[in-house]
Amino acid sequence: MPARVITHTKSKTLKQFTQVRDFTPAPKVTLKDVNQHVVAAQYAVRGLIPMKAEELREKLTSDPDSLPFESIINANIGNPQQLQQPPLSFYREVLSILQNPKLLETDLYANDVKERAQKLLNAAQSVGAYSHSQGIAYVRHSVAHFIQKRDNGVFADPSNIFLTTGASDAVKAVLEVLLTGEKDNGVLIPIPQYPLYTAALALKNATPIPYYLKEEQQWSTDIEHIDELVKSAKSFGITPKILVVINPGNPTGAVLTREAIREIIEVAAQNGLVIIADEVYQENIFDGEFFSFKSVLAELQNEHAEKFENVQLASLHSTSKGVSGECGQRGGYMELVGFNSEIKQLFLKLASISLCPVVTGQALVELMVNPPKEGDESYERDQAERKAIHDSYKSKAEAMYEAFSELENIEVQKPQGAMYLFPRIILNDVVKEVAESHGLKPDEFYCLRLLEETGICVVPGSGFGQVEGTFHVRTTFLPPGEEWIKHWATFHKEFMHKYAEI
Ligand SMILES: Cc1ncc(COP(=O)(O)O)c(C=O)c1O
Repeated sequence: MPARVITHTKSKTLKQFTQVRDFTPAPKVTLKDVNQHVVAAQYAVRGLIPMKAEELREKLTSDPDSLPFESIINANIGNPQQLQQPPLSFYREVLSILQNPKLLETDLYANDVKERAQKLLNAAQSVGAYSHSQGIAYVRHSVAHFIQKRDNGVFADPSNIFLTTGASDAVKAVLEVLLTGEKDNGVLIPIPQYPLYTAALALKNATPIPYYLKEEQQWSTDIEHIDELVKSAKSFGITPKILVVINPGNPTGAVLTREAIREIIEVAAQNGLVIIADEVYQENIFDGEFFSFKSVLAELQNEHAEKFENVQLASLHSTSKGVSGECGQRGGYMELVGFNSEIKQLFLKLASISLCPVVTGQALVELMVNPPKEGDESYERDQAERKAIHDSYKSKAEAMYEAFSELENIEVQKPQGAMYLFPRIILNDVVKEVAESHGLKPDEFYCLRLLEETGICVVPGSGFGQVEGTFHVRTTFLPPGEEWIKHWATFHKEFMHKYAEI
């Protein structure tokens, strides 16, 4: 009988495998054996406090009455759709056709949705197929068109556009190509910074050169300070190679003026620094105006071609932010400006080692840079959805700013853009001592108590960098409603009262 035969064969095979040579098993890999740069890298946005929040979330699931709050409020990460932000309908309808092209034969969607999906399908063939390593040509053309329009006609070349798996991928690619792996490679990063940069620099064994933003002047840049740092780094044998700028800022929420950008480009031009312009929050502006580094560079090149012709810039954008909020879909692009063709070839080689960026992410980039236009069937709905998201960001940012402004022992700068506030918390010696007795930094202690008492999860400023002796927290203003802000205010007053100096 067949069943018997199978049993017999199996046991015979097993028997064969039971006979092994005689040896002492080698031990497993330990932390000592691995890449120490990975061990050293830190990423606060998913660090101590968020990990504790996960623990508490599990506790609430198994025993809903075990904690003094009903749910965890994730204000630690700019992840809008985790916090009930709805996706834009146009995006998801087009994507659903890309995943299931049979929907083109139905009447489910408006004509412009179907037309766009068809164009993307023509360009990609299938989202299940690898694309060109630099990204689908049709999408790169759309991106170039978008940039040119955004920058009032400054030429954008599709061959300089690299589609990426989120902006994080672009940052890693730039560092991979430009840094040699020697400790003397210096990278200027803003402080406070988005921890991707310190983590990625740790992985590349490069030396971060922190330049401090001026908190009291809405976290603006101080060009003399940057100039000084470049000089002093050189005098210590460090070669500054890259200057990172995050505009609008994470965690600061600041938006750079055109003047500030001009000054930064001047320093870069003089010292041969490649600029990484992390512009993923370019759509999230509430106060002021967004100027792209590319457009300001073009302006400087028009005025003084000979001084600025060698400036090299990598400008990054992402589908994770703006009103798109599609963090999980991993779409992004980088535009390389001013690089020699042999260096661009290296970027292409690097991209080809990973085959291609996520193809649905590439499609999303196209939808982000080329939304429905006036007259298209989906236009009105798309505009209404975008406006609702933008308005809710703005009103939440303002509500939070006002709530913090009224509290004692908190100083907060008015948010101009992005999705964050980085208020300064004035913590006294009593808090510092208690925190130390728990093996925590003072801002970690504040964040931990906030989490344990209210369920609000935010990130201590120490994870982003801050002036020695000052303490901050970074919060997004994405969680729904404003009730949680009131809970935070109540916690803050009680905390300050409890640890007041006697
Ligand atoms: C300043 C900044 N750059 C890059 C990223 C990474 O974005 P992505 O999801 O596109 O990798 C983030 C994410 O929060 C960010 O805040």
